[in-house]
Amino acid sequence: MNNRFLDACWGKPVDRTPVWLMRQAGRYLPEYMAVRSRCSFLELCKTPELAAEVTIQPVDILGVDAAILFSDILTPVEPMGLKLDFVPGPVFENPVRTMADVEKLRIPDPESDVPYVLQAIKILRKELAGKVPLIGFGGAPFTLACYMVEGKGSKDWATIKRMMYAAPEVYAALMEKVTMMDMEYLNAQIKAGAQAIQIFDTWGGVLSPTDYEKYVLPYTTKLINGLNRKETPVIHFVKGSGTMLPVVQKAGGDVMGLDWHINLGAARDILGPEMAVQGNLDPTTLYAPHAVIEQEVKRVLDENGGRPGHIFNLGHGILPTVPPENAKFMVDCVHRLSQR
Ligand code: CP3
Repeated sequence: MNNRFLDACWGKPVDRTPVWLMRQAGRYLPEYMAVRSRCSFLELCKTPELAAEVTIQPVDILGVDAAILFSDILTPVEPMGLKLDFVPGPVFENPVRTMADVEKLRIPDPESDVPYVLQAIKILRKELAGKVPLIGFGGAPFTLACYMVEGKGSKDWATIKRMMYAAPEVYAALMEKVTMMDMEYLNAQIKAGAQAIQIFDTWGGVLSPTDYEKYVLPYTTKLINGLNRKETPVIHFVKGSGTMLPVVQKAGGDVMGLDWHINLGAARDILGPEMAVQGNLDPTTLYAPHAVIEQEVKRVLDENGGRPGHIFNLGHGILPTVPPENAKFMVDCVHRLSQR
């Protein structure tokens, strides 16, 4: 039974620093590509046995201390009424632009609308058998709304920002609905057996701290407060949060996910001893020679300085062209260099 990850989430001391990688199941692994060659990404997400298989791959191959459910943040948005495709980035055929569009959105019932997600969690808890804990996840309301309004990825997210400023009542109605969906979806994951929840706010950092506080914070706070988190820690990852940590911290949660634009030690000094942190190696470090990877792992561990409540991770998802042996080397470095 490996409880290092959950203990660190609760700020308890551990024998060595737990480590996992955002996007650890995915295209950099030939074993993932082998499964993926037989079906589309969405089919993979919707077939519990296959989703469970690729979830476990990095646990066996890399030796990480946690598994993260294989799915996507946009999986539960499809049953809200938006037609979803991956090409390979997500695309919605009918993006949300008007109040009428928002009113048409339904709040899915996880048990009947995304049964495959809950089924995958149940299979995984059995197959993992306590070997490592299972992380469930969802997108933060703002990042989900970004894709729902733009209809696809964007460099500047100008369409949703225009809605935010020019039609604040439409924006607020959309955010309320997405927040309710998220709450039910994540609580259903907890009920099915997810042992921690990570909330991904990949695009929260495209707003000024003032706009983040006004347009994002109320919804993420409501979401985190509405989760059944007595026994299930919540990790809040906002990419680009380094310059607004005190504001982002107001949302609550147990662990702050950090990207690499702030030194981990400086972030801990701002957040205080009560909040655990997760991060924050630059993902491109995994293209470096082993000696450089080792030196950077050591630097991040030194930034933490032995404080309890650190989960090692990349500062964002692992990139698809990273050599798997470099990821494995990184995981081994974390374990070796943090051994107490
Ligand atoms: O971490 C894991 O291993 C679990 C699986 C996971 C995926 N997406 C699988 C995936 C998780 C946690 C996500 C979260 C996700 N999805 C986020 C937040 C995290 C982040 O990276 O910022 C976002 C913004 C999305 C939306 C999304 N899904 C995008 C932008 C893309 C295309 C990106 C790309 O790299 O091409 C996806 C597709 C996707 N999600 C893939 C995987 C493995 C690639 C699909 C394929 O196999 O073709």
